[in-house]
Amino acid sequence: MSMCLESSVTGASPHSPDSTGWFEAARFGMFVHFGLYSLAARHEWVRSREAMSQQEYDRYLTRFDPDLFDARQLARTARESGMRYAVLTTKHHDGFCLFDSALTDYTSVRASGRDLVREFVEAMRAEGLRVGLYYSLLDWHHPDFPVDEHHPLRGTGARDEPRDMARYRAYMEGQIRELLTGYGEIDLLFFDFSYPEKGPGEWGAERLMALAKELRPDILVNDRLGIPGDYVTPEQYQPDRPLERGGERVRWEACHTLNGSWGYDRDNHDYKDPALLVRMLVESVACGGNLLLNVGPTGRGALDARARATLGAIGEWTALHGRSVHGAGPSPHRPPANALYTRSGNRLYLHLLAWPLKHLHLPGLAGRVRYAQLLHDGSEIRFQELDGARHEHNNLAPPDQPAGTLTLTLPIARPDVLLPVIELELDGEE
Ligand code: GLC
Repeated sequence: MSMCLESSVTGASPHSPDSTGWFEAARFGMFVHFGLYSLAARHEWVRSREAMSQQEYDRYLTRFDPDLFDARQLARTARESGMRYAVLTTKHHDGFCLFDSALTDYTSVRASGRDLVREFVEAMRAEGLRVGLYYSLLDWHHPDFPVDEHHPLRGTGARDEPRDMARYRAYMEGQIRELLTGYGEIDLLFFDFSYPEKGPGEWGAERLMALAKELRPDILVNDRLGIPGDYVTPEQYQPDRPLERGGERVRWEACHTLNGSWGYDRDNHDYKDPALLVRMLVESVACGGNLLLNVGPTGRGALDARARATLGAIGEWTALHGRSVHGAGPSPHRPPANALYTRSGNRLYLHLLAWPLKHLHLPGLAGRVRYAQLLHDGSEIRFQELDGARHEHNNLAPPDQPAGTLTLTLPIARPDVLLPVIELELDGEE
């Protein structure tokens, strides 16, 4: 496992306290995938995977009724889980829009009388969360979107139909304009995605990027238009070092599912353990990135029991340990084995992935630490500083540590939290 040493990276730090500094301070966000596919309950790509015709897929449209979609509840859950921003699918690859678009009838407003984007944006803002919108570049419903390798109609005669990508580009521009002018301040835009058959040229990427910046100068736009954006988006894997592009450190956000599927997937029980998810959050922060953790509400729009339990467990951890992630970032210090450091000001946070027996040796920290405590209960952790010679007869601390080592004395019993954290108050200017 990487230690994510800050000093191992060259190039400009992206951590500037500008109008987009909220992104790094937030560190943890909620991704929400909801749409017609949620009724099928077998992955958000169901229409493509099963090569469904539009008519077959319409059985979800006619039954779309998000009676349990409660944006305020969702916003509360996000905040209580320690999340500081949230990103909603305004349109996924199936083309179904969760907002009131004048450019199509294929919307939640036509299907159910509800503008879910408006409900979401207002609820998140009321809860003090930053707001992000996901927008699919693919669109399997739009008549001008060419039938390609991913399209549900790829095996039919539609593959050869002439389609007018310029008209589709105009449609996307129009919808981005609707989303960025009709819903107040929007902090982030998550385009999805480019692939060999379609990239920046097909999307009109430069124009979409310029439009977003013109309408919302402070907005953060991701990199999936196929041109550099404001941050990069590793998906379903965990970077183990700070990310760079062209030798420069970049902002990044790992996005992850709870169970491998973004949309509600009833029979998929491949859930990540809450302790693993907390570790992934800390790994992200230790390597200078964010974690965007997805939930896929059910066909009726509610979080299922498993998602609620997972977020609840994460929330219990963040309630006690939030300051080791919120506003924190990588540390220049080298952690011991099975541990991760994050840093915020003069506080160093030591996350213990495995609980040691009594002594934990921290190289290079002798003389640097003023005070140490377990973060979850604020209980003091006593420590000693080895000079390499003094301890031959001291069975409390083994003599085989190099000078400059700080040795913590830990309780035998591991604290009963998902990931124990020791807060070290550093001397000096850090
Ligand atoms: C992929 C998938 C999509 C999902 C997205 C989330 O691009 O195609 O279904 O919404 O990842 O990042």
